[in-house]
Formats: sequence, C-alpha cells, structure tokens
Amino acid sequence: MTNVTVIGSQWGDEGKGKIVDWLSSRADVVVRFQGGHNAGHTLVIDEKVYKLHLLPSGIVRKGKISVIGNGVVVDPWALLSEIEEVRGQGVDISPETLKIADNCNLIMPVHAAMDEALEAARGKEKLGTTKRGIGPTYEDKVARRGIRLCDLRDPVLLKEKLNKLMVHHNALLKGLGAETIDPQDIYDQLMNIADEVLGYSTQVWKILEEARKQGKKILFEGAQGVMLDVDHGTYPFVTSSNIVAAQAASGAGVGPKAIGTVLGITKAYTTRVGTGPFPTEQENAEGERMGERGHEFGTTTGRKRRCGWFDATMVRQAVTVAGIDGIALTKLDVLDGFKELKICTGYMLNGVKLDYFPAGQKEQEMVEPVYMTLEGWSESTYGARSFSDLPAQAVKYITVIEELIGAPVFILSTSPEREDTILLKDPFYG
Ligand code: IMP
Repeated sequence: MTNVTVIGSQWGDEGKGKIVDWLSSRADVVVRFQGGHNAGHTLVIDEKVYKLHLLPSGIVRKGKISVIGNGVVVDPWALLSEIEEVRGQGVDISPETLKIADNCNLIMPVHAAMDEALEAARGKEKLGTTKRGIGPTYEDKVARRGIRLCDLRDPVLLKEKLNKLMVHHNALLKGLGAETIDPQDIYDQLMNIADEVLGYSTQVWKILEEARKQGKKILFEGAQGVMLDVDHGTYPFVTSSNIVAAQAASGAGVGPKAIGTVLGITKAYTTRVGTGPFPTEQENAEGERMGERGHEFGTTTGRKRRCGWFDATMVRQAVTVAGIDGIALTKLDVLDGFKELKICTGYMLNGVKLDYFPAGQKEQEMVEPVYMTLEGWSESTYGARSFSDLPAQAVKYITVIEELIGAPVFILSTSPEREDTILLKDPFYG
C-alpha cells in the first residue's frame, strides 16, 4: 500500500472535502501542506455538515492524526475559532490529534489588512482574493521577515521581529492610505493565545517519518486547484502557493517519493471564484443552471462561482504538470438533464489551434475554446452506487474525459454523501 496525495485539478472547489474524508477513513494521518484558511472543505457525514477551512479533513474522524505542515500559512486566531466551532459539533480536538509544524508561517492581523488594502488599490485589476491575508503572508515568508509558530516560544525575539515587520508594513499601509497598526497591539494579542497555539506545535516532519517507518498510511490533502498554482496557474490571478503534488513533499517535510499516488479531484464541469481568465465560462442560462444545480457558492466567502463547460485541455495540462495518476470525478449529477454537453478539446489563438493553455496573461484571455459536443442524458445519476446504474451517455461522457485528459477515473462521486461513491481503482494501492 502507498500514501495518497489529493489535489484539485481545476480552480478549486472540485469537491475535495468529501473525497478526502472518504479516503481518510482508511488513512492514519491526514496532512495539509499549502494554503491556509482561504480553503473551504465541506464534509457531510450522517447529514451533519462540517465546514473546514484550515483543519485537515481527517479531524472529524476518531483515531486519526491531523497535521498542518510547514507549507501552510496559519492564522492562529482563525485556527482557534475553527477548533472551537468544530469541537462544538462534538469532534474531539487535542494536541494528541492535531499537530502543527513549528516552522510554519503565521498570518498576522496586518496581513489581512494588507490583502484588503492591496485589493482596493488594484481597482478594476483586482485579483478577487479571499482577503484572508494569504498572499501577504507568503510574501513575508520568502522575504524572510515572517513570523513563525516557533517564534511564539521566544517573546523577546518575537517583539523584535514584529517591530521590524511593522516598519515595513506601516510604510506600505500609509502609502496605500490605510490605517497603520501598532506592533505592540499584535504582540499583546499574540501573547494572549501563544500558550494555547503552542500546545499543538511540534516537528511534524519527525512525526511523518515515524509514521512512515511504522507503515502507517498518510493522506496529503491539497487545497485550491492546479490552475490557481502560483507557477502553473492563470498568473497573476492565482493564489500564492504551489498547488501541484510536489508541494506535498516540501510543504510537509517528506521526500518526494513519500507522496504516493496523486489523485486529482475533478469536477464534471468547470467553476471558478474570483477574477481571471476562464475560456469555457458560460455567462448564460446553461452556466446559471450548473450554478443552481451545483449550489456553486464559495464555502469561505459565499461568493457566487462562475460556471462553464468541462475544459479537457486545461485538465490534461494539470494532469501533466502536477503528476496526477488518476482522478476522482465529482458532481456528474449536476449535468443530468442537459440536452447536449460540450467539452473543450483545444483553443484557437489568432487563427492557430493550440493543444495547451498558454502562459501569457493576454493569450489566456484571448483563447477561444474548440468544443466537441456530446449527447446528454435525462435520467438522474444522483446517488448512483455502481457504474451499471449510470445511463449510457453518462458512461460515454466519463470515457471521453478519461481519453482527453490522459488519466483514468479512480473514483466517481455521485452526491455529497460519503456513501455515494463508486470506487474503480483504490489509490492506496497505487
Ligand atoms: P487568495 O488565496 O485569498 O490570495 O486568493 C487568490 C485567488 O485564489 C482568488 O481568485 C481566490 O478566489 C482563489 N482561491 C483561494 N482559495 C480558494 C479555494 O479554496 N477555492 C477556490 N478558489 C480559491
């Protein structure tokens, strides 16, 4: 048996929460390795709905270890309130079940303020961030002025670091016409919660090494999707971290061979929140219908998601750059009742056909999708538990997708319920 890494293959919101939860029943350790509380993973268990942002999805299951790796940016206040909320739903969370890398970077109140001020300054060019301070925290991380969880153990050094951090940010906030922030205020707020947060902090790379030696199964849980990857996505309309599977290794502190099978969660159509290019977007009745049937509103921000046809060219690219071995196809039922379904098989750019999604910002906006059209199906696929329950046209749709993206379907999810899942190939067996 091998470990499994789950990532999104589109622009996020592919339904990772349910699949990770389903897989986590068979894993021993579940690890987040990038992003932060910009993510929103909805789990439905016995009709009880859990909305997780920062906590790994394994947290809702007894006997699992949940790990937040060094590649995640952690807002300690958001973390504590999420812990409180999930505990309120009857879930046991303690330093025995939740481990946070002591070398992870922390999101400070100034980062959310900067996110907000920078977005306002961008005007029409805004990126549509979640305003959780994710980008500014990663900026500080690579600029080597970030505050890390381990810094909370050293109040004197912490104070020095905060003073330096705020010299930088207050100059920027002033320039952007926003209110400056007193580093002492942040320090006091941090000191109020330091002990509680430090209770969860540890060397997670050691815990993961130990787990590996004991033959335990590790599930790496990605957030967002490959098209939001800071290198491979629709730059600059992306998030600030790498999403691709390779990040699971560096963002958790394991070697690249430890990440195991890479499962790309893929929605049967396409959605995107925030601004940026989206070649197959349908700003029409068909897009509206997908949005309504798929309840396409952001878990974190409540924003309405943009909807469009399945883009096989983009997913094929995601399969390649992210090293996806197989996909979990989700929300097929949203397409029930469409007379015809379109799939993008390439793009036209200035009269030339492309079989890839180009990198240039202008090119990404200009490409015109080339579609193939498939007949739809009128029967319901909602809740199907076996392939033989599916109408022939739905099976055809799945087969065509597999061929076009160059990766097989390992798992088919047919409703938000955990049990409505068809397993074709077990990713834990490679
Ligand atoms: P940020 O991650 O808050 O900086 O936002 C950057 C871009 O990523 C925006 O377009 C967001 O809408 C998008 N984004 C961030 N997190 C998610 C997610 O979990 N699902 C879908 N889109 C996301």
